[in-house]
Amino acid sequence: MKIRGWTAGLLAGALAAACYAQAPAKKGQLNVQKQAWGKLPDGTPVELYTLSNANGMKVAITTYGGAVVSLTAPDRNGKYADVVLGMDSVDGYLKPVPYFGALIGRYGNRIGHAQFVLDGKTYHVPRNDGDNSLHGGDRGFDKRVWAARETGVGLELTYVSKDGEEGYPGTLTAKVLYTVTPQNELRIEYNATTDRNTVVNLTNHTYFNLGGVGEGDILGHEVTIHADRFTPVDNGLIPTGELRAVEGTPFDFTKSTAIGARIGQADEQLQFGKGYDHNWVLNGSMRPAAEVYEPKSGRVMDVLTDQPGLQFYTGNFLDGTIHGKGGKAYGLRSAFCMETQHFPDSPNQPKFPTTELKPGQTYHTVTVYRFSAR
Ligand code: GLA
Repeated sequence: MKIRGWTAGLLAGALAAACYAQAPAKKGQLNVQKQAWGKLPDGTPVELYTLSNANGMKVAITTYGGAVVSLTAPDRNGKYADVVLGMDSVDGYLKPVPYFGALIGRYGNRIGHAQFVLDGKTYHVPRNDGDNSLHGGDRGFDKRVWAARETGVGLELTYVSKDGEEGYPGTLTAKVLYTVTPQNELRIEYNATTDRNTVVNLTNHTYFNLGGVGEGDILGHEVTIHADRFTPVDNGLIPTGELRAVEGTPFDFTKSTAIGARIGQADEQLQFGKGYDHNWVLNGSMRPAAEVYEPKSGRVMDVLTDQPGLQFYTGNFLDGTIHGKGGKAYGLRSAFCMETQHFPDSPNQPKFPTTELKPGQTYHTVTVYRFSAR
């Protein structure tokens, strides 16, 4: 977490980032269209906002879970196609779907044994992943209706999570600003404040297939991750606390490598994740985190973030039973996620960067997904 005014080093990093393609769109560069998108069973209305830039890139976001429903990106011939998994209607998101495109909170990723100690008190959060808590609990931020406001430069979504919701202390006000820039970037800026000491780790869970959604698996995508280390896990995907060198392992993506090149190796970590489902320790701060290239279409996605970690997940739990947009079946490894984040289980791992947020501090972090082709 980057707390405003924390240290001069971080401030310098933030300044570097500001010069580093992380500037939001300017007023008037973005077209935003709003449409009604159905209702929850209790009658709460849900909207769909479509953000488009002058190039023709379109990103549709629903107020249900703040989820990215569709995102178009150009191939090497300039042809735009939808490259993210999602559902056709809000009803689709009310079924058990694995966080398609959603905003994740209050704590993204896992908390071991579904409990943590803060200021000497033990907090219990929902056990919804074996013995552990995943992605904020039974009803995390992905299953809440966010309040939307068009700011002129983007779509601002707000969700107020009450003290004690899903077991977390403190009323947390989370604000997420989605922008589509003229450089074909989806920029996501997260802000949060609290009225009591709490923990927070927000992310977005978009599933990408740069070959086009529903167009086969992602094993041929070539991935670079700017990380020399990752956090190995136990069989419940909780970090052991070690920061292990990627060198000489199937986790070394410091040079561009196809996802499928080593995913089937007899490696204990790959077996625990049923493929890649791990957190990489990003090198340095305020920098490019990853690049993904899809050779057939030529599409490229760059990920930039100020976060310390990146969960690279290769859709190992998709099994073809969910039919998404246009009725397409989402099969095993038909998409990948790059969830920028703090390390999993940080509230229980004093050696990991802290995820605590106190009253008076502002949680603030930016992630950019940039699309191009070659
Ligand atoms: C995250 C987790 C995975 C899985 C997916 C959703 O990426 O790390 O283990 O839970 O969400 O299926």
